[in-house]
Amino acid sequence: MDLMDWVVKKLANANPRIVTRLEKTLKKFPFVNKRMQKEYQQVLQGAESSLKPYKEKFAAYSTIPKIGLDKGAILQEMEALHSEEEARWQDGYVSGAVYHGDQGHIQFLNQVYAIHSQSNPLHADVWPSASKYESEIVAMTANMLGAVQVDIDQNVSGQICGTVTSGGTESILLAMKAYRDWARERKGIKRPEMIVPSTAHAAFDKAAQYFNIKMTRIPVGADFRADIVATQAAITRNTIVIVGSAPSFPHGVIDPIGDLSELARRKGIGFHTDACLGGFILPWACKLGYEVPPFDFSLPGVTSMSADTHKYGYAAKGTSVVLYRGLDLRHYQYYTVADWPGGLYFSPTFAGSRPGALSAACWAAMVSMGEQGYTQAARNILETAATIRSGIEAIPELHILGDPLWVIAFASDTLDIYRVMDQMTSKNWSLNGLHHPPAVHICVTLRHTQPGVAERFVEDLKLAVAHVKMNPDAKGGMAPVYGMAASMPFKGLVGDLLKQYIDLLYKM
Ligand SMILES: Cc1ncc(COP(=O)(O)O)c(C=O)c1O
Repeated sequence: MDLMDWVVKKLANANPRIVTRLEKTLKKFPFVNKRMQKEYQQVLQGAESSLKPYKEKFAAYSTIPKIGLDKGAILQEMEALHSEEEARWQDGYVSGAVYHGDQGHIQFLNQVYAIHSQSNPLHADVWPSASKYESEIVAMTANMLGAVQVDIDQNVSGQICGTVTSGGTESILLAMKAYRDWARERKGIKRPEMIVPSTAHAAFDKAAQYFNIKMTRIPVGADFRADIVATQAAITRNTIVIVGSAPSFPHGVIDPIGDLSELARRKGIGFHTDACLGGFILPWACKLGYEVPPFDFSLPGVTSMSADTHKYGYAAKGTSVVLYRGLDLRHYQYYTVADWPGGLYFSPTFAGSRPGALSAACWAAMVSMGEQGYTQAARNILETAATIRSGIEAIPELHILGDPLWVIAFASDTLDIYRVMDQMTSKNWSLNGLHHPPAVHICVTLRHTQPGVAERFVEDLKLAVAHVKMNPDAKGGMAPVYGMAASMPFKGLVGDLLKQYIDLLYKM
């Protein structure tokens, strides 16, 4: 065992603050950096071949061609790239990612995109259609999520309002920024804090970093739902918002939103329900008779929500909706500048110019699906997920985490679950690896509702488990990467590795 291994082992259960301080000190030593670079290179070399498969097959451009290429040839090349990738998600081998994916639906969205490809909501005078689409997307989403019609139609206090954003992360970032600015102006809070379950999406960490908000992560219970007592104990004079997920990304379980939001309401604190994943499934699941605890604006304590149209809203990638209880709160999201030489400038979200065509496609997806289409889609997804869940439950080496509906996380007490994931990858599956505890999940979409896909998943999983049982010490794959990330007390070093991974994406 070398010095670094010894240090890592010794620090496994040490105080995180001491570990961070030690990490900063250690990083100043060249031998530590050298050792880490060596480890990174080993991991990244494995990743490079799968991330850069086109080097030999397709021309690469590091400078703009002197003379423009033939458009027919460009299209041909792009079609070839597309067909290299299409089968995997189309045939239902991928967790999440493509939520509808039916050819007819894609063609329809592409047609809508083409009609509006020049539209930019920043120029509302030139493209009032963009404002029509976006206001209707917000109203339809708000109505689906517990707003009453009067809220939307009339300028009543506490009305549910919102904006269209570029995705779940932007919806969350904007909401957290709105709370920060609201709390500063209305409550004089200069050192804002947010309370977030440990299972809430990484976008909340991003918001905390970007907007200088102190984030307190509260633990989840054995059922993977947020702990109410720990939440209450974490509230301070500086708490601006409490968060709950409906459901959470890792385990697909719904936090106790009723209790959490009531706690927030009694304390005069904001409450955000992150329904990025569930916003367009849970209302229909409820109508279908599934047991869905209240999670939306029907709860008086819920003051904002995020719901992703580009997931189960079946829009093209690049839209989500953030909703607020009250126009006042939404105003803290907006950006305006009155003394810029470039004129009066204002924008509702982070971007300036925005793709109006994506909002048009989102609107078209919503009105073409209709309540009936969404309900039928939810029914198919939930029934398929139940088949997958019971298939996993029948594998003795695996167990399900929590009590999920359609995002199903599973773990093992006897096998390295990341090796099981690697085996599934070798069978063409793309699943999500999870941390704390080590687990893997599949997020069921309409792709998995095709005949035979759920059965194929369960069959492949059985074979993967049997293989890992027979070969527990196999090398390679993602298992060592997850293993290293889990055992490494220096989270900054793991972060450095991830940054090098991103660098790799931009490598020619
Ligand atoms: C619960 C939850 N919140 C937020 C997000 C972030 O969404 P996006 O990837 O669209 O930014 C996700 C993404 O999967 C999610 O599952």
